[in-house]
Amino acid sequence: MNAASVFFRVMNAFGKPIIMNVSDRIDEIRVDISRLKSEGKRIGFVPTMGALHSGHLGLIELAKKNSDIVVVSIFVNPEQFGPNEDFDRYPRQLKDDLEKCRSAGVDLVFTPERSEIYDEKKFLKIGIDKLSDHMCGGSRPGFFEGVLLVVNKLFNIVTPDIAVFGQKDIQQFQIISKMVKEFNHPVELIMAPIARANDGLALSSRNAYLSDQERKAAPGLYRCLQYIEKQIQSGVDTPKLLIEHQKGELEAKGFKIDYLNVFDSKTLEPSETLREGNNYILAGAIWLGKTRLIDNILIEF
Ligand code: PAJ
Repeated sequence: MNAASVFFRVMNAFGKPIIMNVSDRIDEIRVDISRLKSEGKRIGFVPTMGALHSGHLGLIELAKKNSDIVVVSIFVNPEQFGPNEDFDRYPRQLKDDLEKCRSAGVDLVFTPERSEIYDEKKFLKIGIDKLSDHMCGGSRPGFFEGVLLVVNKLFNIVTPDIAVFGQKDIQQFQIISKMVKEFNHPVELIMAPIARANDGLALSSRNAYLSDQERKAAPGLYRCLQYIEKQIQSGVDTPKLLIEHQKGELEAKGFKIDYLNVFDSKTLEPSETLREGNNYILAGAIWLGKTRLIDNILIEF
């Protein structure tokens, strides 16, 4: 379907028509955005891979507070999936997503096909020094290179004044921040807090993969992070043994551990000894059956 020029018209409380423009074409998005910019509008941007949930809506809300016009992109980026990862089965529900965007008051949605974003042959790559050695970068080679590639392109297309990303993917936020600085993108980044279900599970498009039994067990990761955080806050400054013990507990409950550790918030390297005045990221990734879940807590020590 060519989603270009699909207009949603609804009446807001004052009877004024609100139009959400949806386009899968770079040139159309560019025309819209340059018009809005010439009217002096501040552009807020929320890049997503769709299958929108309340976490994404929180980002949109934050973008609305910090800009005049909110642009959302929906693109399941093939470059950030490894050959054995879930690109094919990643949930795609454009109609539903557009409805959610409309209700959330989004102004412009960019829904490109793969061929609109990528040429068949690529000549350039973005390389990352060290920041992707650990955490998700350590277990998903090429993942952050793929994220940077697409976010770089999206920033060049949308030219936002501000862009909102979630703390849930904290390593992604830190690496994109570095890219913005080193590539001189004139955009201010805002980090949104993690949106959680009532039982503490961090919301994620991938939660849809969980069976009923796995869904019941899934908040165990956050509970474990909270337990470790409490111990650290009460003075444990060498958390290695504590973490090993918690890994064992999680494994006994059927989780397969990808990583669970405390990382320096700037270098994203594991921190064996925590030093006063430093900031850390307590982060974990686990497998529940075929589903990989991630979560984190920020710690000021
Ligand atoms: P996606 O997983 O769709 O997430 C889009 C944005 O929503 C990211 O900034 C992510 O951190 C945020 N997010 C997801 N779940 C959240 C939650 N529970 N609480 C708060 N924020 C949450 O991240 C990506 O897509 C892609 O890598 C992308 C940046 C779009 C590049 O392809």
